[in-house]
Amino acid sequence: MALRISLNINGTEHGVDLEDPRPTLLDVLRERIGLTGTKKGCDRGQCGACTVLVDGRRVNSCLTLAVSLEGAKITTVEGLANGDALHPVQTAFIEHDGFQCGYCTPGQIMSAIGLLSETEGKASAEAVREGMSGNLCRCGAYAGIQDAVMDAQARIAKGAK
Ligand code: FES
Ligand code: FES
Repeated sequence: MALRISLNINGTEHGVDLEDPRPTLLDVLRERIGLTGTKKGCDRGQCGACTVLVDGRRVNSCLTLAVSLEGAKITTVEGLANGDALHPVQTAFIEHDGFQCGYCTPGQIMSAIGLLSETEGKASAEAVREGMSGNLCRCGAYAGIQDAVMDAQARIAKGAK
């Protein structure tokens, strides 16, 4: 059953023709729209590499059908920076070495933004570890990731956007 859907991604409407209703948001982002910043790790909800925001809440795009998201606001890692001005979470990841190979990093960053929104700027280091536990890092950059998320929280509290 072919169908056409419209997805609002990073503030832009994208019309997508689908052969059937089964493609995930992850596959539509990467293979149909060309937004390859969102990564595919496990493709089964276990690694967090594919994390994006849907109406401000983090979701695993590999577990989400694209057809279910018409009318939603989808944010991917490509939608964070304003020109050369990085999002404070991106800046903090760079300054705290929150990555090595970088494959998990877009998902880590999107998950961190969701977590900092959920915790309203009051996340403890333990809450960050727990809240980021769905995002795996093969390189084991967890110490830098935790430092980056805590620092980003402080930057945002001081008004960084
Ligand atoms: Fe989606 Fe691993 S690719 S959770
Ligand atoms: Fe390599 Fe996380 S930085 S998987």
